[in-house]
Amino acid sequence: MTARADPGARGRGAHPWLYGGATFALRHRLLRAGWRVAWLLLARWTPPPLHAWRRWLLNLCGAHLSPSARVYPNVAVWWPPHLTMKPHASLGPGVTCYNVAPVDVGTFAVVSQGAHLCAGTHDCDDPSFPLRARPISIGAGAWIAAEAFVGPGVTVGDGAVLGARAVAMRDLHPRTIYAGNPAAPIRLRGRRTSREV
Ligand SMILES: CC(C)(COP(=O)(O)OP(=O)(O)OC[C@H]1O[C@@H](n2cnc3c(N)ncnc32)[C@H](O)[C@@H]1OP(=O)(O)O)[C@@H](O)C(=O)NCCC(=O)NCCS
Repeated sequence: MTARADPGARGRGAHPWLYGGATFALRHRLLRAGWRVAWLLLARWTPPPLHAWRRWLLNLCGAHLSPSARVYPNVAVWWPPHLTMKPHASLGPGVTCYNVAPVDVGTFAVVSQGAHLCAGTHDCDDPSFPLRARPISIGAGAWIAAEAFVGPGVTVGDGAVLGARAVAMRDLHPRTIYAGNPAAPIRLRGRRTSREV
């Protein structure tokens, strides 16, 4: 059942966004609209190797990217000031970074194609369905594999791996490989040599 399905909610303090109203202040929405247009016109079409240019644009718009961080052209960043990327961190093709709260990507951390970093949820027990934003932290050397989902408030430990299409709604221990939905540990990282793979 969606929040809109409660017909009695209006008039009981229900928030305007339940009726299609805005969650964020007008100024914030205008700034985000400007950001989306800027990315579309100046970055979305750029060849993948032009990382320096996209980094410059993101930093100009308030992001905190190290000079060696890499963001691919079709990455969707919701709000640049909430994105921090340490040296050699990368957001791969098609990554969605819904950073309604800060998202921190550690040194040499890799977020692979189509992964979703989702820093927001809604309180579905509250009739007004308020947005809840909680930061995501991805540790140094961690790998978020293709199309994996990292939920709000999750801390991914240094060197942890979240396998393809896995869903992490709880913190991931360092140097541990996780798979599935919900993500469960399958083994420790580095316990197998590349010759065995
Ligand atoms: C998580 C991952 C790194 C684990 O690799 P691995 O240690 O070699 O794991 P194995 O292939 O030995 O699998 C171990 C078990 O976990 C399961 N498993 C592995 N990855 C899984 C995943 N993503 N989802 C569900 N189960 C998975 C395997 O089926 C296997 O189960 P079994 O023991 O019942 O047979 C790898 O499976 C993965 O998801 N890689 C990401 C690929 C990707 O995103 N590529 C694009 C970026 S380049």
